[in-house]
Amino acid sequence: MAGLFITLEGGDGAGKSTQAALLEAWLQESGHPVVRTREPGGTDLGVEIREMVLHRRGHISPRAEALLYAADRAHHVATVVRPALERGDIVLQDRYLDSSVAYQGAGRILGADEVRSLSLWATEELLPDLTVLLDLDEAAGRERLDRSRTQYDRLEAEAAEFHGRVRSAFLALAEAEPTRFLVLDASLPVDEIATAVRERVASLLPAATDD
Ligand code: TYD
Repeated sequence: MAGLFITLEGGDGAGKSTQAALLEAWLQESGHPVVRTREPGGTDLGVEIREMVLHRRGHISPRAEALLYAADRAHHVATVVRPALERGDIVLQDRYLDSSVAYQGAGRILGADEVRSLSLWATEELLPDLTVLLDLDEAAGRERLDRSRTQYDRLEAEAAEFHGRVRSAFLALAEAEPTRFLVLDASLPVDEIATAVRERVASLLPAATDD
């Protein structure tokens, strides 16, 4: 496909949105067409699924939760991400299938392989060109959330052990696919992280527009 698919991953409070905004601005200044999006909730249908999966009161069984994220992803990839990549745009996305492997596979203990297969089926095997993992100790992530939130969503409200499993799963994914992943220490200053992200992204851009 003509475009470039970049995803940002990490635990809650790692600073993905800040880095996504900085990277988007930098790419736009250099004249690249960028589609910034997120999961869950990158489509109208996805907004409804997001509301259910994050804010619904009461229990959602782990497999149902995994399927809701996969349904959001299937529709998002089919209607937003693939069309953008086919146009040649850069898709900059907050969370993708690695979040499902980490949160549902490890957090909910459904198993990495099964959850990954589900997402690959949902997306007809679409993998990112680059995944930036902002790695943060779960206690530090929690502190950051405490400063910015008055209420937690269903996943954020999970115990520290859950978030510890999520972090380890992200790191294991990065280790298994070192070419796709760029792992950065999310406790570093925002500017330092942004510079490291730009350097890697620049190496993936077509030479003529590389600045
Ligand atoms: P996010 O949009 O990053 O949260 P916020 O905007 O509140 O910072 O993600 C919402 C939550 O959904 C987050 O706790 C991680 C979780 N999640 C999964 O459990 N599985 C998934 O596949 C995805 C995409 C997100």
